Amino acid sequence: MYVYYKKDAGRYFGKAEFIRYVKKKTLKTIQKYNMLRFDDKIAVAVSGGKDSVALLYIIDEIEREFPTEIVIVHVDEGIANYSDKSEPIIAKHAKILGYKVCQAKFKDLFGFTIDDVAKYYSEGKMNLEPCSICGEWRRWALNKLARDSGATVLATAHTLDDFAQTVLMNVIRNSLDRLLRLAITRERVVEGFVPRVYPFIELYEKETALYTHLLELDHNDIPCPYAQLSMRWDIRLFLYQQEEKHPGTLYNILRFYQDLLRTVPEQSIELKKCEICNYPTTDNICRAHKLVRMLKSLS
Ligand code: FES
Repeated sequence: MYVYYKKDAGRYFGKAEFIRYVKKKTLKTIQKYNMLRFDDKIAVAVSGGKDSVALLYIIDEIEREFPTEIVIVHVDEGIANYSDKSEPIIAKHAKILGYKVCQAKFKDLFGFTIDDVAKYYSEGKMNLEPCSICGEWRRWALNKLARDSGATVLATAHTLDDFAQTVLMNVIRNSLDRLLRLAITRERVVEGFVPRVYPFIELYEKETALYTHLLELDHNDIPCPYAQLSMRWDIRLFLYQQEEKHPGTLYNILRFYQDLLRTVPEQSIELKKCEICNYPTTDNICRAHKLVRMLKSLS
């Protein structure tokens, strides 16, 4: 019996074959982009959702053969009936696999929860939707947790879908600098940033979701209540339609991005240290703390 039809490749998969495919594809991606080293300390970002739980189990399996260390890093956004559901799930997986969890709350790090941010947004006090702030703070917080735990690399569960959405968002926002900074390998080293890797970058989100489902891995399946407010949501729907009509669209965006990088000379960006947190930044204050200032001015 088949469990999956991979439209872009015109191929059917049975359950065992599909599970093998996802693991093999992840391993190949790690090797292709030199994402991990044999003696790394890997911080795996686990939100508790389907993708990150799948990533944790696959990295665990791959890395058992090497002297690597693994630590789980987790951020609580402070979204009622959503963030609080993840903590027990992560604690359960950490116990099963024997890993330490390093976690932090937005409320403690920045003084606001995403629920607070959403309230300002719905009251019309600002026009930045919750996701933009959540994404910026998440990047900052995961880097801090990875650094504090002594990790040499940070692995996140971004899939091909996430990557293609991000590329398109940067095009629509005319953010060439940000677009060119989307590193896939860990070769670009910036002091103060733990290098990030995306072992699922060549897998569709529906594939990692199916993997979690087939292995019956416990996960938080409640959708974020603010996701639909974001530009990413609209792009996600648009790309689903395109992928449906033209299988391979998402891979084409990834390849286009890689070709683009090859034609653009490496940018040397002058970085300063944020006056508030010492985080590397192009300005005097990093974007995460600029957002905190802006929110304080509203309250
Ligand atoms: Fe963006 Fe939840 S705030 S998905």
